[in-house]
Amino acid sequence: KNIAIIMGGYSSEHNISIKSGNVVYKYLDKTKYNAYRIIITKDSWFYLDGADKEHPMEKSDFSIKDDGKKVHFDCVFNAIHGTPGEDGLMQAYFELLGIPQTSCNHYEAALTFNKRDLLSTLKPYGVPCATSYFLNKGQTIDEDAIVDKVGLPCFVKANRAGSSYGVSKVHNIEDLGNAIENAFKEDTQIIIESFLDGTEVSVGVITFNNKVTVLPATEIISENDFFDFEAKYMGKSQEITPARISKIQESNVTQLAEFIYKTLGLKGYTRSEFIFIGDEPHLLEINTTPGLTEESLLPQQAKTAGISLEELFDSAIVEALR
Ligand code: DAL
Ligand code: MG
Repeated sequence: KNIAIIMGGYSSEHNISIKSGNVVYKYLDKTKYNAYRIIITKDSWFYLDGADKEHPMEKSDFSIKDDGKKVHFDCVFNAIHGTPGEDGLMQAYFELLGIPQTSCNHYEAALTFNKRDLLSTLKPYGVPCATSYFLNKGQTIDEDAIVDKVGLPCFVKANRAGSSYGVSKVHNIEDLGNAIENAFKEDTQIIIESFLDGTEVSVGVITFNNKVTVLPATEIISENDFFDFEAKYMGKSQEITPARISKIQESNVTQLAEFIYKTLGLKGYTRSEFIFIGDEPHLLEINTTPGLTEESLLPQQAKTAGISLEELFDSAIVEALR
């Protein structure tokens, strides 16, 4: 089978995605699959041959020419974080072309990538989340109203972004304006949330052997003020799998993560972030194309569950083609 591993993307997460994609490429079983690395940038889409030479792609049918022969793909392995791979754009394109892909479908991707719409959708199901305040670019910013609603400290986040780009923790109202400006650099919509003071865990939910499977939770302890970019990617955090949480907490978060995956009709790999207030997990967000490097959380969780990277990546394709 011909597999296109798509990576890169248009957002600040481009480089992180290239790392994820290269790890997928490294561990995919080459005796079973012809894997191609496809780089998606705003200016061009191209594939890399074995010598890292760039070759153009045909966008009308998502095909390439390899040694002069046209190659169509049987499946796309989606390793793009952020737009256009995590927000439904690429998914819609592949759905139109009829090419199976490993992440969730276009609507579910768009919904989950939009924190405002995700939380608004799940709240009526009784899913606990932080108190939040939404702002669009150009709207009047009433700092007192924001602080009245969400309190201090609070989190200011770009509504549609990942890897903590555009996220600040704000302790004083004087710092709110800068945090809002910073978040608007990543997106035209922002979300400001109350600070949930409790243990943070990250929980992978995947479909494996045709079954929705919740992986062991990872506990996150940041050395910085929160789990920011540096804490995530430059070693400034401890990530402990399985998380040191009580049996009740574990059961609650496992049930909630599975409930969300099934209720929203997700597929492929997902990784959701929660904060415990007492025994009750509160949802922060869902990543539908989570990081896939050897150090990333989902691969760590899979390893703890006895699933190797080879098995994990193979299963994504098996499930997409099922
Ligand atoms: N957005 C990053 C890649 C993650 O969720 O792992
Ligand atoms: Mg995220």
